[in-house]
Amino acid sequence: MSRNAEPVPAAEADFDALFSAARTVQARAYAPYSRFRVGAALIADDGVVYSGCNVENAAYPSGTCAEQGAISAMIAGGGRAIIALLVHGDGEELVTPCGACRQRIREFAEPETPIAIAGPEGVRARFSLAALLPASFGPANLRR
Ligand code: THU
Repeated sequence: MSRNAEPVPAAEADFDALFSAARTVQARAYAPYSRFRVGAALIADDGVVYSGCNVENAAYPSGTCAEQGAISAMIAGGGRAIIALLVHGDGEELVTPCGACRQRIREFAEPETPIAIAGPEGVRARFSLAALLPASFGPANLRR
């Protein structure tokens, strides 16, 4: 979808497009230490799909998550809100966002924003952000 499109209702979010974008960037992940590649893709309020992968570092804590990369791409690209997000990872367990990434997502999403978790075969589960991060602290807390 083009930039400056009408806001995308989450219910109509194209999870196939997010799956495809996340799978593409997962293959490009830089994960020589964990060998665990993750891809994330989101559709933003401008109608654009932004994606990111994990980028590890020899100084381990300096590595970044896939979700973090996708959010950075969204902000740099002009998007300002997450309409829906999908995380793609391998293995049998659900690759749900880490705690820090749940808070990063929270900054740009609503409690009901859908977060889909996918494996190589497709979407495995869908959560709302509120289910993953209940009673969260967000931008409204700092409004006065
Ligand atoms: N990782 C992500 O990028 N996103 C997640 O949702 C879970 C974990 C990355 C961080 C690290 O590079 C590797 O996966 C193993 O934890």
